[in-house]
Amino acid sequence: MRIAIVSDIHANLAAFEAVLRHAKSVGYDKMVCLGDVIGYGPDPVECIDLVREHCEWSLLGNHDFAALYEPTNFNAAARDAVFWTRGETLEQGWMKRQFAIARGLAIPSQRSSAAKSAAAAPCMVGSYRYELTEGGKVIVRSHLAGARFDGPTSVPLSEPADALVPLDAESFSIRYLSGESEVVQGADDAARFNTWAAAPRRTPKPQFDLKVHRDDPLWQELLAAQRPRVDFMFSISPRQILLDRYICVHASPSRPVNEYLFPEDVAQGERKLRRNFGALTLPDASGNSRRVSALVGHTHCPGFLLEERDEIESRLREAAAVGATGQQSLLAPEEPSARYDWIAFQKGLTEWSPTDRDMLPGCRFILNPGSVGQPRDHDPRSSYVILEEGENGAPDRFTFYRVEYDIARTQERIRDHIDRGAPLKDWLWQRLERGE
Ligand SMILES: [Fe+2]
Repeated sequence: MRIAIVSDIHANLAAFEAVLRHAKSVGYDKMVCLGDVIGYGPDPVECIDLVREHCEWSLLGNHDFAALYEPTNFNAAARDAVFWTRGETLEQGWMKRQFAIARGLAIPSQRSSAAKSAAAAPCMVGSYRYELTEGGKVIVRSHLAGARFDGPTSVPLSEPADALVPLDAESFSIRYLSGESEVVQGADDAARFNTWAAAPRRTPKPQFDLKVHRDDPLWQELLAAQRPRVDFMFSISPRQILLDRYICVHASPSRPVNEYLFPEDVAQGERKLRRNFGALTLPDASGNSRRVSALVGHTHCPGFLLEERDEIESRLREAAAVGATGQQSLLAPEEPSARYDWIAFQKGLTEWSPTDRDMLPGCRFILNPGSVGQPRDHDPRSSYVILEEGENGAPDRFTFYRVEYDIARTQERIRDHIDRGAPLKDWLWQRLERGE
């Protein structure tokens, strides 16, 4: 059995698609997700759908918890992103945008090259003006530095202002807001650009309302697609047990949703690690507890914490010398003192399988596959792990992989949302290429 372990997708569709392709190419029997499917990234709905399709289960991450219930220990920018994500996944943000696109009001994929270059330049974010003509068509006027275009385009509409309409509302209006309050006419394009750069950004200005009726077949279709996502998100659990020998949580064994287990804890957090390894037990058939390892996400750093026990190596050598096997006797209830190591995925590698020298047979570990959608170990490539179940008592093998993905595509998607007024911050797309 080969089990793909993914974590911290963070609504990064391009990254998750690349990991799915890679995992398929190397082969796996099933896939599980250690949480944080959503949060930060531009495509939470699409990522939820892929997790539902490909993963046997997913865990409750702190960003999933934040969107479902409330953000805990989030800064203001992260909190804004959470509420936007909630609107997309649990309410009607995604539905309304799809509705508008289907009715020909916004087709992001057909934006003009001028608009694309504007979207690619952070300083031009939000510099569009929408007008509703008498014929009901949306006209977008944009004045760019060195370029100008008028006329019907497919520049995406801004975020609906009333994103919190209940799913079962009878009928309602979608009010679109422009990104800029006014486009200032300048003597030339450069002057205009400077005026915009200095002008306050994203002052809401209602442009038109789009009437939606509950019985509209398209609306019903979107609602039918959204409901299972809501159900799925509310059904995810903070803990799972894998192969009857791994406790799986998003964050830490003793605080499954929010506690970080950092590599630095080896030197500075011994009590925290002792508490967490102490929480790693499962009952056996006779009612006794047995000590197990864990799989976690959350820090976005691939590698594993190793619980080394003094003398265990020499005892293993002794056991090998007399031909004895059976790790159980080596992990006797009267525990020797433990020390901890962090074994990191080495930068620059694309594939790494820890050997017995790394993992020390008989020692427990807390393994982190890294992040699919927002790596933070200064390697921007997606990270995930394949667990190969050991046969006939052989130890399980883990292989870490790094996968390149189209980072620019995700960055563009975040900027698109910012263009439409979503409260996502530029650092969310900027950090991706730096792996931070
Ligand atoms: Fe995360």
